[in-house]
Amino acid sequence: MTINKQEILTPFDIGQVNLKNKFAVAPMTRISASEEGLASHRQVEYYERFAKGGFGLTVTEGIYTDQKFSQGYQFQPGITDLEQAQAWQAVTSAVHNHEGKIFAQLMHAGALSQGNRFSQVTGGPSAVTPKGEQMGFYYGNGKYPTPKALTEEDIADAIDGFAKSAQRAIEISSFDGIEIHGANGYLLDQFLTDFSNHRTDKWGGDVKKRVRLILEVYKAIRQVVGSATVGVRISQGKVNDFFHKWSEGEAGAEVVFGSLADAGVDFIHVTEFEAWQPAFATGGDSFVKLARRYAPNQVIITNGSLHQVDHIEDVIKDGADIIALGKGALANPDFPNRFAGGESMVDFDPSILGPVADIKNSELA
Ligand SMILES: Cc1cc2nc3c(=O)[nH]c(=O)nc-3n(C[C@H](O)[C@H](O)[C@H](O)COP(=O)(O)O)c2cc1C
Repeated sequence: MTINKQEILTPFDIGQVNLKNKFAVAPMTRISASEEGLASHRQVEYYERFAKGGFGLTVTEGIYTDQKFSQGYQFQPGITDLEQAQAWQAVTSAVHNHEGKIFAQLMHAGALSQGNRFSQVTGGPSAVTPKGEQMGFYYGNGKYPTPKALTEEDIADAIDGFAKSAQRAIEISSFDGIEIHGANGYLLDQFLTDFSNHRTDKWGGDVKKRVRLILEVYKAIRQVVGSATVGVRISQGKVNDFFHKWSEGEAGAEVVFGSLADAGVDFIHVTEFEAWQPAFATGGDSFVKLARRYAPNQVIITNGSLHQVDHIEDVIKDGADIIALGKGALANPDFPNRFAGGESMVDFDPSILGPVADIKNSELA
């Protein structure tokens, strides 16, 4: 399939933010902050490289949002107070120096936390032991502990953590927008997922009730950031359960994407292993096509193995606006510039994430 390069290299608006092209760096946790969660000089150079390499948008790694249950990993950056928010200023200004835009991904790890200096116990929707094992490349080891079921007060604190963090991100750190991490098995996805959410109160039950926390977080953020760009990342697969599929199938997609659209999010960022494949085992439409169908007026960012450039055209046909690259960007921090120049791409080398996933010297600007 031939690719319409010009279409991807054309400027594009996402909410109030003008991007110079449609390539984005997908969020990637690299545990390279200080122990206190302050973004480091290493991160400044790492993020700068993507902007220099032509990415119109970079979404940061997941940033923790409160000093209770949200931190997931040792050396993960936070944005829970003034000092942490100020530490991001060097990152955002380095990206802005190259005409790039950068969104903060706000993440609450919930039951998948494997390193939280504020809490010895983890918290999730219900006391259900997560599937899978902790991630060694983020200093984890063995099974996940069984979380405590968050109380009404804990949930209010979590929402407040997201909102205050978003406000700091926009007002203090100078981020261009906010991505709420509703994907990949972390707290908001734990609420969305029937396996992990057994609640019988207003936060649990059918998918309409399970999506509620994501919507409440969005609303709370919207109240404090005015018209700043805010969107949500959604997936089926999880870091601890790669092949999870929504039991409701397309009806679930209608509720999730439809209610995000009704709430008025600026963008929805969908991620799958291979973005162009049918969303469900029964075949049919891709996840991105379903997002486009039920959120016709939202910007759709899509992610999943799109370093295979032949498939970019497929997802654009399915309704994607922006193409986000994870491993492809790690291997080619100048992916957009190479793409524009018709140059070949470097294959991803997984050893860069070992033995732990911190940023390596070879990745610095
Ligand atoms: C090292 C690493 C860290 C990641 N951390 C995050 C994260 O913090 N937040 C998130 O939403 N996704 C995270 N992801 C998932 C990526 O954003 C992306 O969905 C995944 O790599 C698939 O896209 P790709 O095929 O382009 O690599 C991470 C992926 C990698 C490889």
